[in-house]
Amino acid sequence: MSTAPKLTIKDLCVSIDGQEILKGVNLEVKGGEVHAIMGPNGTGKSTLASSLMGHPRYEVTKGEVTLDGQDVLEMGVDERARAGLFLAMQYPAEVSGVTNSDFLRSAINAKRGEGNEISLMKFIRELDKKMELLEMDEKFATRYLNEGFSGGEKKRNEILQMMMLQPRIAILDEIDSGLDIDALKVVAKGVNSMLSPDLGVLIITHYQRLLNYIKPDYVHVFMQGRIVKSGGPELAERLEAEGYDWVKEELGIEDETVGQRV
Ligand SMILES: Nc1ncnc2c1ncn2[C@@H]1O[C@H](COP(=O)(O)OP(=O)(O)OP(=O)(O)O)[C@@H](O)[C@H]1O
Ligand SMILES: [Mg+2]
Repeated sequence: MSTAPKLTIKDLCVSIDGQEILKGVNLEVKGGEVHAIMGPNGTGKSTLASSLMGHPRYEVTKGEVTLDGQDVLEMGVDERARAGLFLAMQYPAEVSGVTNSDFLRSAINAKRGEGNEISLMKFIRELDKKMELLEMDEKFATRYLNEGFSGGEKKRNEILQMMMLQPRIAILDEIDSGLDIDALKVVAKGVNSMLSPDLGVLIITHYQRLLNYIKPDYVHVFMQGRIVKSGGPELAERLEAEGYDWVKEELGIEDETVGQRV
């Protein structure tokens, strides 16, 4: 498939256990674009990521999500992955008993479909190449998925998954949290190596620092379960320097969370 991807989110509203968390998200991410979402804690950023991927706990109450015009909300999680959606999670799960390499090969084959499995040789060649670029020791291929991985190792592993799965739309949720400076550069190198007109990227981050390495075309501010302000890279710089108060003041927002402040 060589047409450039287009993810369209219109007025997306999502509830968890009857409580509305997302309150009308509008966003379009196209191939070749890098979008960054920044926003205070507890405003719904990860909820957006999980909802796009089809997490069963998140109930879509309104709105639509399409990928190349196809209804994403109708698709199961596996279909979404096959359609080219990928999520690097803020808190990757540990899976004991499944090696990283078995997991990756299964995920790739599930995406490619029966009769079109990747050859073992090709898989190993690709894996070696990508692990080398991410400066990962080869022992991570045979360790159980994320089990006992340090915070930074988990994040690097999420990017390895992205590089192996070659998604069309990649959502990266706080891929920089817990990374030391060198690891941050390596992870950014991995993401940058994937950038092309065939990939749209949505980066959720708290820190402008990541955006020095992965240059966003658009920056969005997330508050109260939706995007309240959008701009270019200069918006991220202003947020880093001044925080969120000026945005809240400008928009007359008192409580930026989705109303569950602890
Ligand atoms: N599975 C869940 N059960 C109950 N509440 C949830 C669940 N998932 C999210 N929430 C609530 O929804 C709100 C938004 O959470 P979310 O994780 O989307 O925030 P976030 O913007 O990603 O925050 P952070 O910057 O801290 O990662 C929070 O108040 C959170 O407690
Ligand atoms: Mg989050």
